[in-house]
Amino acid sequence: MAIDYSGKTVIISGAAGGIGFAMARELGQQGMNVVLADIDEHQLAQAKNALDKEDIASITTTLDVTNYQDWQQTVDAAQQQFGGVHMLINNAGVGGIPGTIEETNHKIWQWVVDVNLMGVLYGTQAVIPAIKQTGEGGWLINVASMAGMHGVPYSSAYAATKAAVVSMSEAWAVELKPHNIHVSVLCPAFVKTRIHESMRNLQDKYKSEKGAGDPAKLKKSAGIAAELVNSGIDAQLLAKRVLEALDSKQHYIFTHPNYRDVVAGRGKALDKAFENAQNSPLVGHLIDEEIVSL
Ligand SMILES: NC(=O)c1ccc[n+]([C@@H]2O[C@H](COP(=O)([O-])OP(=O)(O)OC[C@H]3O[C@@H](n4cnc5c(N)ncnc54)[C@H](O)[C@@H]3O)[C@@H](O)[C@H]2O)c1
Repeated sequence: MAIDYSGKTVIISGAAGGIGFAMARELGQQGMNVVLADIDEHQLAQAKNALDKEDIASITTTLDVTNYQDWQQTVDAAQQQFGGVHMLINNAGVGGIPGTIEETNHKIWQWVVDVNLMGVLYGTQAVIPAIKQTGEGGWLINVASMAGMHGVPYSSAYAATKAAVVSMSEAWAVELKPHNIHVSVLCPAFVKTRIHESMRNLQDKYKSEKGAGDPAKLKKSAGIAAELVNSGIDAQLLAKRVLEALDSKQHYIFTHPNYRDVVAGRGKALDKAFENAQNSPLVGHLIDEEIVSL
C-alpha cells in the first residue's frame, strides 16, 4: 500500500543537486515538508527556487556533513519550521580520486571517509532523537552504492565507505525497529549526476600543497568517470524507485538488476570460503558451535 507522507518532514543531506534533489522533489510532490541541507549555498538557493515553483514547502540549511554542529543546527531549523522530523536521507557523498594503492593521497582518503562514513554517523546521531521525539516512527535512508556490495579496484576509498554504510544500515535497522523507524540502504549503480565532479566540494582542510595528483592522470580518470556516470539512469527515476521500495519496506534498495550476477559471484565466493573452513582440520569442528549474538 502506498505510504501517506503528507505533512511529514524530511531532512536530506546533499539535497542541492543530483540524487538528493531528485528525492526532495519526489517527496515534496507527495506532500512532505523538505529540509534541503547542503554545503553548496549557491546550488541550494537554486534547488529551493525550483521547489518553490512547485509549491513544495521547504527550507534550506548550510550543512557540511563532516561538522556535527551543522547537523544540530539543521535539526533545530527543521523542528522550528515544521514542528518535527520523520525522515532522514543521508545522501551527501563524494567520489574521491580513482587511483592505485601507491597513488593514494591520504588527505583525499580521509575526506572520503569523513563525508561518506562519518557524515552518515553524525547525521544519524543528530536526527534520530528528533524522529523518536515525534513518537510516530519514521524512516532512515542511507545512500550507499552498488560499490558497497563489492570492492571496486582503483576506487577503494569510495567502496570501503559505501560498504561501511551498508553495514551501519544493517545494524541500525535492528536497533531502530522497536522505535518503528524503518531503515533502508540505497545501493544504485550509475546515476546521471555530478558525482564525478565532487572535487568541487573539497573543503580547505583536505587540500594539500602538492595538489591532488598528476594533472594528466587526473584528467584521464575524470574523463572515464564522466563517461560512466553519464551512462547511468536518471535521478528522478531512481527517486521513484525508492518510493516504490519503501511501500513494501525493502531494506536493501537496488536500482540496477543487471548487477545481480556480480553480487551473486561474491556470495558464491563467500560460501566457498565457509566450505574451505569447514573442511579444515584446524577449525572444521566449529561448525557445531552455537553462534553467540547480542
Ligand atoms: N551518481 C551515481 O552514479 C551514484 C551511484 C551510487 C551512489 N551514489 C551516491 O549518491 C549520493 C549522492 O550523490 P550524487 O550522485 O547525487 O552526486 P552529486 O555530486 O550530484 O551530489 C552530491 C551533493 O552532495 C553535496 N555535498 C558534497 N559534499 C558535502 C558535504 N561535505 N556536506 C554536505 N553536502 C555535501 C554536493 O554539494 C551535492 O549537492 C552520494 O552518496 C553518492 O556516493 C551516486
